[in-house]
Amino acid sequence: MTKDEQMAFEAALLVRAAAIETELRLLLDGRTLAGEIARPERLMAAMRHGVLNGGKRLRPFLVMESAALFGADGEAASRVAAALECVHCYSLIHDDLPAMDDDDLRRGQPTVHRAFDEATAILAGDALLTLAFDILADEATALPAERRAALVLALARAAGAGGMVGGQTLDLEAERDRPDEAGIIRLQAMKTGALIRFACEAGAIIAGAAPQDRDRLAEFGSAVGLAFQLADDLLDLTADASQMGKATGKDAAAGKATLVALHGTNWARSQLHGLVKQAHELLEPYGEQAALLKAAASFVAIRNS
Ligand code: IPE
Ligand code: IPE
Ligand code: MG
Ligand code: MG
Ligand code: MG
Repeated sequence: MTKDEQMAFEAALLVRAAAIETELRLLLDGRTLAGEIARPERLMAAMRHGVLNGGKRLRPFLVMESAALFGADGEAASRVAAALECVHCYSLIHDDLPAMDDDDLRRGQPTVHRAFDEATAILAGDALLTLAFDILADEATALPAERRAALVLALARAAGAGGMVGGQTLDLEAERDRPDEAGIIRLQAMKTGALIRFACEAGAIIAGAAPQDRDRLAEFGSAVGLAFQLADDLLDLTADASQMGKATGKDAAAGKATLVALHGTNWARSQLHGLVKQAHELLEPYGEQAALLKAAASFVAIRNS
């Protein structure tokens, strides 16, 4: 990626992040929706703390750009992007809990269980997960009903026992079970890859793109997802907490099963390079139209936070 391409990407990411932030703020206000009884203020405050606290908003960007690639309506895409970010933020709130990675800092601020308390953090995560499916199913996400249903199904599969949550389970077990390379790749494809894969596939679903386009975007998302966790694991080893906004140096201390721990940083960097190249090749058929998505794949490997 040239310097100009990188700057164009970073500018586009900021614009998309600001738009998604506005969408999320609206979705997390205290007003009750039809069928709700009341939204407890402390719970809502914890949810806002876990969502409106910075974050690169890369997954929303991938939803918006993959939808744009197929000429989809930006408003519906923005709600789908917000739904996915709710699931991502819930996963971070729970990932940081004492029973999991036990972290005090996230996005440069106290984690939700630190700023509030553990029970509230668990419940804020639960409510964010539920809210995501509310957003997708709601007619305000102005898409044909069958596309909304397809998004609900795809997100459920990506987030649940066979996706992110399953991957988090394997990640915890791996501290004891010491999986081999294939085992680590599988757990990372689940804990991190599945939501990123959904982000890219979602654009094709929103736009009603052809099945082969949907598959291609999903494959692109899988490559980006693996690259993303590989970069996260490298940064855990090489970056500092002030740069990352979260504690670093913890994976080795916890005995986390990562490819960096298994094969070292040089191997991991060359693997990362290969994954980005693979991601780029998958988007070749779309030419210049896919420039920002390609830049997003490159960014994953060169990011420093
Ligand atoms: C962190 O994700 C968790 C992982 C899957 C490695 P991000 O690095 O996208 O976190 P935010 O959303 O920018 O804070
Ligand atoms: C997190 O992986 C994956 C999910 C939250 C699903 P990590 O535990 O490596 O993420 P960080 O480093 O805490 O952001
Ligand atoms: Mg973790
Ligand atoms: Mg963690
Ligand atoms: Mg990490």
